[in-house]
Amino acid sequence: MPQFSHQHLLGIRGLDRNDVEAIFETAEQFKEVINRPIRKVPSLRDITVANLFFENSTRTRLSFELAEKRLSADVVNFSSASSSVKKGETLADTVRNILAMKVDMVVMRHPHPGAAHYLAEKIDVPIINAGDGTHEHPTQALLDCFTLRERLGTLEGKKVCIFGDIRHSRVALSNVRCLQLLGAEVMVCGPVPLIPRHFGSLGVKVEHHMDAALEWCDVANVLRIQLERQGSEVPFFPSLEEYHAQFGLTSERLERLSSAPLILHPGPMNRGVEIASELADRGDSIILEQVENGVAVRMAVLYLLAGRLGGSED
Ligand code: CP
Repeated sequence: MPQFSHQHLLGIRGLDRNDVEAIFETAEQFKEVINRPIRKVPSLRDITVANLFFENSTRTRLSFELAEKRLSADVVNFSSASSSVKKGETLADTVRNILAMKVDMVVMRHPHPGAAHYLAEKIDVPIINAGDGTHEHPTQALLDCFTLRERLGTLEGKKVCIFGDIRHSRVALSNVRCLQLLGAEVMVCGPVPLIPRHFGSLGVKVEHHMDAALEWCDVANVLRIQLERQGSEVPFFPSLEEYHAQFGLTSERLERLSSAPLILHPGPMNRGVEIASELADRGDSIILEQVENGVAVRMAVLYLLAGRLGGSED
């Protein structure tokens, strides 16, 4: 069994290359399992996992639930919209009450950056961060890199550009860290107000012209504009039409290139804004491969963390 020495998966920060390799090696085995006629293994039998979603999700929530069920775990789902959080209960109290029902692992999405780290200090069971505000989304980065490695063989020396709303994205930071661990060169590209200055200190290239970034990269990871997080009274760009004109990935843009990049998108996609609809469905887009691999990668993370239940601290 590959070695994985962490109690939690709170972010890509804190992992090293061996940790990522252990997750990928395990995910490869589970990918084979989920393509068999009987897609279930007993690895997490008698383990109860709580999926705590304090923020909306389609892919991550379903993907974790499927991963848990394919591993034969018992699963309970919590959504803040229909919970006593609405009556003023704190995060720590909500989770302590759920754990009192003998839950062994927690998968949590929360709108506040650092929420998973906060919880890890309060409770004793493994926690998987399924996205904390604008901070990290480690399993998304792992599944993105796993998918790229399947397609490209290696990420060593590959040029990956992350396009879009970097400022409000948790996928961007986790991807930068994971790609760098695996030896890729990383660029971020978007409007000046949507790229925080500190990204320059992460060892990534920063570009504000989409055509130049597309010419540079082997892989284009296109992120959506997160209007729900852009609370500012001063808009970050004039209009969605203007954004599409400057930063939308279109067939016309790709046709001008000597070679087209592979296209990724973590979803949810805003067709006609950051990506032209027809591109999302083209053969050089690997968006649905990302979703398929998400289940295998999450099975691997659950399995490796469950292997440490009752083990030593992080
Ligand atoms: N990629 C992703 O996190 O999608 P959801 O918000 O639907 O989970």
